[in-house]
Amino acid sequence: MWKANMFLCMFLFSWISVVTGSVSYDSKTILINGKRRILLSGSIHYPRSTPEMWPDLIQKAKDGGLDVIETYVFWNGHEPSPGKYYFEGRYDLIQFIKLVQKAGLYVHLRIGPFVCAEWNFGGFPVWLKYVPGIVFRQDNEQFKVAMGGFTQKIVSMMKAENLFEPQGGPIILAQIENEYELVEFEIGKSGKDYAEWAAKMAVGLNTSVPWVMCKQEDALDPIINTCNGFYCENFTPNKNYKPKMWTEVWSGWLLEFGGALPYRPVEDLAFAVARFIQNNGTFVNYYMYHGGTNFGRTSGRFIATSYDYDAPIDEYGLVREPKWSHLRDLHKAIKLCEPALVSVNPTVTSLGKNQEAHVFESGSNTCAAFLANYDQENSATVTFRNMQYDLLPWSVSILPDCKNAIFNTAKVSAPNFHMGMVPVNGVTFSWQSYTEAAASVGDKKSFTAGGLKEQLNSTWDNSDYLWYMTDVNIEANEGFLKNGQLPILTVESAGHALGVFINGQLSGTAYGNLKNPNLKFIDKVNLRAGTNKISLLSSAVGLPNVGKHFEQWNIGILGPVTLKGLNSGIWDMSRWTWSYKIGVEGEALSLYTAKGSSSVKWVDGPALAIKKPLTWYKATFGSPQGNDPLALDMKTMGKGEIWINGNSIGRHWPANKAFGTCNQCNYAGFFNENKCLYGCGQPSQRWYHVPRSWLYPTGNLLVVFEGWGGDPTGISLVRRTK
Ligand SMILES: *[C@@H]1O[C@H](CO)[C@@H](O)[C@H](O)[C@H]1NC(C)=O
Ligand SMILES: *[C@@H]1O[C@H](CO)[C@@H](O)[C@H](O)[C@H]1NC(C)=O
Ligand SMILES: *[C@@H]1O[C@H](CO)[C@@H](O)[C@H](O)[C@H]1NC(C)=O
Repeated sequence: MWKANMFLCMFLFSWISVVTGSVSYDSKTILINGKRRILLSGSIHYPRSTPEMWPDLIQKAKDGGLDVIETYVFWNGHEPSPGKYYFEGRYDLIQFIKLVQKAGLYVHLRIGPFVCAEWNFGGFPVWLKYVPGIVFRQDNEQFKVAMGGFTQKIVSMMKAENLFEPQGGPIILAQIENEYELVEFEIGKSGKDYAEWAAKMAVGLNTSVPWVMCKQEDALDPIINTCNGFYCENFTPNKNYKPKMWTEVWSGWLLEFGGALPYRPVEDLAFAVARFIQNNGTFVNYYMYHGGTNFGRTSGRFIATSYDYDAPIDEYGLVREPKWSHLRDLHKAIKLCEPALVSVNPTVTSLGKNQEAHVFESGSNTCAAFLANYDQENSATVTFRNMQYDLLPWSVSILPDCKNAIFNTAKVSAPNFHMGMVPVNGVTFSWQSYTEAAASVGDKKSFTAGGLKEQLNSTWDNSDYLWYMTDVNIEANEGFLKNGQLPILTVESAGHALGVFINGQLSGTAYGNLKNPNLKFIDKVNLRAGTNKISLLSSAVGLPNVGKHFEQWNIGILGPVTLKGLNSGIWDMSRWTWSYKIGVEGEALSLYTAKGSSSVKWVDGPALAIKKPLTWYKATFGSPQGNDPLALDMKTMGKGEIWINGNSIGRHWPANKAFGTCNQCNYAGFFNENKCLYGCGQPSQRWYHVPRSWLYPTGNLLVVFEGWGGDPTGISLVRRTK
């Protein structure tokens, strides 16, 4: 009888928890199972780390005081070709969500499926661009069918695994679309219709948890519009019955090839969050909490391989101090205020010219106060309820009992130690090289076309590279052969980088940047009498991840291509017949794999190629002892890609040095992405993360493709440590 009762109880209990589980919202907060909550969240994108790193990253997020992990869903990783899905390895979304659940945290699933995210093509598969008649992110039937299909696929996967909170799972929020309002504004009616359709489509999927649309002022009910930015204290949702949510608190900024390393002082970050909370905000998500790595060719246009973002957990999975600890202390202070914060709206009173008190008082013993000093230069001593408080410039003090200031956003007591890169003792690389020939007219697998072809249309992004090749006949009577005034070749390209080879020799390079991907090569070229082989190697550096109709943006050499200084004047070669070849030879041979690498003859010792373009390097090494994260110091290399045991760790481009000025930066005052930079004049990215879990104890195959020329003897393996 007792046993039977227990079973009945258990049955009832689980049944009750299923039907009572709910996520809703009111004017104040998200409610979980009927309870108002202040929710602290952080972005961790699952493909930007390895499954072996996930449990530790999630635990560090929890220890840092977070309640929620936010991630986008990366469509192009999950559906590499139409209808062929991939949810394994770094793309095992279900496993990632279950690990978050196991740690006792919630999930905000930002399905998008446009995600921007400095991710290749903003998360869209490249094949999507070639669906006949498609127009991205607009009221377009083909696009809506594809987007609706993928969104539904993800939602039904989550439902099947009972991952939504009302089903007993961790997902409390979902997002449809992403920062669409700017594009919508530019597009007009078709944009508005599309935004409406997206909202209705999402809501129609019956997830049982609220949807958000970030940066979407006109988000339809019941969808919550939310804020993204460096500051959001003045944001208000579009209806007074929606809570005030900040889905992207930018904890730092992206690194671009050609740019310096941005960072955001934690004093300012904590100040921004405290200001948001004192102004009725009840949900904050750090973008990023762990940024990680753009492995392989997953980064967006001109985005570096590192996606560190100056996040509280660094690219390598280590806590960044004092950022991580200071935010943890902020979170503790906010949580102590939670009963007051969820109960009432604040009463705001002035404490001075640039000082305010925001007081949440409900009943006689629930009171929390935030004392703010907006002055960028001066500290202030304020009197609040007959007590004096010292406030640092540009700071907020938190008083969870309206008496004791237990935290000030600018007073950093957390340890401030710096993680550095330390050479690994005992690992040296014994390099072998293989230099491939520049492609030329008549090569196997080349094809011809009249005029200059757009690059992506040929490669479909199966490779970064497309060769444009032609032969140029120089008559013996050309004047320049006698007077030595070499002809000038001009190549205009829509991006992103270019190597010019004349008769197999690298003649020069050119490249664009994030703001202006176009490039122009103008230089003398060493032509001789007879047939000359011109081979232009155009390379993409990630596909655009944002912008109006970015599916229509071109890459590659679109011309004009001209040759100047010949007897007959200027030759416009743009409409000539060109030969094309997709990819470099070593890619076709899979030289980065153990099997593929045996297909060519490598040389070493004195024959090792140094500073030669189109060169592949390989070496084997044993895994170093210990658990410190590992990286490759690539400081002597140019531009290319790196593989460990056949897995691409990303594009390297240390030859691309950081432009701009790196000024001393003060935390006080409004932050922007150009305010705090370091490493000007240095390679934008020198170190490249080597995940421990990709290594075997011995015999690891390291392969580097160097497109422009570098010295591999300067490459070293380093540990990231204190
Ligand atoms: C969502 O619920 C509505 C109303 O119950 C129903 O008509 C619709 O078919 C459901 N849609 C899905 C995708 O489950
Ligand atoms: C808090 O929200 C209430 C209700 O919307 C509003 O009247 C008040 O101005 C807000 N206070 C602050 C400081 O934003
Ligand atoms: C793209 O390539 C296809 C087939 O190679 C060709 O028919 C089409 O015209 C090309 N489109 C553009 C815009 O170049």
